[in-house]
Amino acid sequence: LRIAVLVSGSGSNLQVLIDAMQAGALPIEIVGVISNRDDAYAVTRANDANIPVAVLSHVANGKRMGIKTFETHANAQLVEWQPDLIVLAGFMRVLSGPFIDNAPAPMINLHPSLLPVYKGLDTHQRAIQAGERHHGCSIHVVTAELDAGTVLTQALLEINQTETADSLQARVQKLEHKLLPWTILLLANKALSLGTNNEVSNETCN
Ligand code: GRF
Repeated sequence: LRIAVLVSGSGSNLQVLIDAMQAGALPIEIVGVISNRDDAYAVTRANDANIPVAVLSHVANGKRMGIKTFETHANAQLVEWQPDLIVLAGFMRVLSGPFIDNAPAPMINLHPSLLPVYKGLDTHQRAIQAGERHHGCSIHVVTAELDAGTVLTQALLEINQTETADSLQARVQKLEHKLLPWTILLLANKALSLGTNNEVSNETCN
C-alpha cells in the first residue's frame, strides 16, 4: 500500500509507520511526507529515513501561506506520489472540501478523542474537566466537516483520578501508536472498509 503522510508536529506516529515499514511489519511504502511547518521534527524523521518530504510551510517570508496555495501545492505533490491512502498524523491545518474530494486517494485522520465527542483542540483537558470516565483516540475518514467523517477504529482507556492533561496526552499517544498501524493493516488487508466508493486499492501489496 502506497501511503502519503501529512504532518505538522513531532511525528511520533509517522515514526511508528517508518519503523513498521522498515521492519516489514506492515505492507506499506511511505511514498512521501508533507509538512506544513518547516520546524516540525517529523521532517527530520522523514529525512533520516530517506523518505521524500515536501515542506509547504504555513509561514513563508513572514507571510502566512493561504490555504488555497497550500492545497494547490499539496495536491500536485500527492498526484506525483500516487498514494493509495493519505494519512493525516498530527496534521493541524483544516482542509477544504474540494481538496479532499480531488485528492488522488482516500484520506484518514488520527484524532485524540473518542469521536464523536471532543472534536477539535484541547481534547484531553476537556475530557478531564467534563469528568469523563473514558477517553482515547479515533481514526476516521476525512470529510469537509472537521473530525466528523465515519469512524473506522477507536482505542480507549480509563481516566485516572489524578490525571492531568499531560499525563492523559501521553497515555493516549501510546494508544495512537498501536491504533494507527493496526488500522492501516486492516485497510491493506481489506478487513476494514472506508465505507466510501473511493476504496483503498491493494494492487501494490500482493
Ligand atoms: C497526536 O496526538 C494526534 O492525535 C494529534 O496530534 C498528535 C500528533 O503527534 N492530532 P505526533 O506528531 O504523531 O507525535
